[in-house]
Amino acid sequence: MHRIAVVTAGGDAPGMNAAIRSIVRSAIHERLEVIGFERGYAGLIAGQARMMMARSVSGIINLGGTILKTHRCEEMKTPQGLRKAADVLRKFKIEGLIVIGGDGTFRGASRLHEVSGVPIVGVPATIDNDVAGTDTTIGFDTAVNTALSAIDKIRDTATSHERIFVVEVMGRRRGFLALEVGLAGGAEEILVPEIEFDLDAICERLKMAREEGKTSEIIVMAEGAGNSRRIADYIAEKTGFQVRLTVLGHIQRGGPPTAKSRILACQFGYEAVKLLLGGVEKAAVGIRDGRIVSVDLDYTWKETKELDMRLYRLAQVLSA
Ligand code: F6P
Repeated sequence: MHRIAVVTAGGDAPGMNAAIRSIVRSAIHERLEVIGFERGYAGLIAGQARMMMARSVSGIINLGGTILKTHRCEEMKTPQGLRKAADVLRKFKIEGLIVIGGDGTFRGASRLHEVSGVPIVGVPATIDNDVAGTDTTIGFDTAVNTALSAIDKIRDTATSHERIFVVEVMGRRRGFLALEVGLAGGAEEILVPEIEFDLDAICERLKMAREEGKTSEIIVMAEGAGNSRRIADYIAEKTGFQVRLTVLGHIQRGGPPTAKSRILACQFGYEAVKLLLGGVEKAAVGIRDGRIVSVDLDYTWKETKELDMRLYRLAQVLSA
C-alpha cells in the first residue's frame, strides 16, 4: 500500500481536524502518501483533491470544523454518483479510503466499497453519537459540554425570573445528546425521540414541583422529539407559568474540541491507518469499554444504538 485518502462527510463535528491530523501523520509515519478530498463526497465525486503533508495539518488539533470542509451529498446516493467516486479513486490510485463522519457517511462508504472494491475504514465523528458499535463518537463530548455551558447560563435567568425554559438541543433522530446534557444540567424533564412522553403529565409534575417550592425548571428536548415551539406554548397555557424557548442549534457543532474529543480523534485516526495497513476491506473504528476496537462497517449504520435507560431513570430520580 502506497497511497490512501481521507474525506470528511456529513455534519461536521469538533475533533474532525484532530482526526485528519492523526490520519495524515500516522500514514506518513508508515511511509504512505495521503490525499485529502475536499467538501465531502461531493468533492470526492468532483475529484477535488490535495496532497496532505505533515505540515498540512499543523495547528489544527484545537480547531473545530474540518479543514477539508464537508458537504451533504445526494449524488452519492445514486449509482451514477458511486461510479464517479469509484472512477476518481482509481484515477488517483487510492488503495485505501478513510471516511470521517456519522452513520449516513458510513452507509455511503459501504456502497462505495461495493462499487469500487477499495478498502474503506470509517472514523465515527458526529455530535449525535448515533453510530452503532462504538460507545462514543468524535465531537459528542464537545457538544455535550457546549450545550451544558449554555444551559448553566439559562439556569441563571430561569431562576431570576422564576420561569420554565425549554432548551432544544441537536439530535435529529436520537436523544444521546439531550440525555447527557439533561442529566449533567440537572434538567427537570428530558424529552427524547426514543421515549414517548405525556405532556399533560409533565404539566402536572411542573405544577406539583411549584407547590413543593421549586421556582424554575429546565426541560431539555432533542430536536427529534417534537416541535419545541408548540411544546413550550402548550406548557405555558396548561400551567399558567412563564415559559421561554431556547434553540441551541449549530453552536453545538462548533468550537474547540475538548481533550476527550481530541484524544479519541488521535486514537481513531491512528487505528484507521493501522487497519488499512493490516489489510482490512471494510470496517469502522470504535471504542467499547475504553478499548479501541474494529467494528463491521455495515453494523454501524444498519443497527440502532440504544439509549442508556439507566441514565434516563437516574435523571428522573435526581430531578425531583
Ligand atoms: O447529524 C448531526 C446534526 O447536527 C444533527 O444533530 C442535526 O439535526 C443536523 O446535523 C443538522 O444538519 P445541517 O447542519 O445540515 O443543518
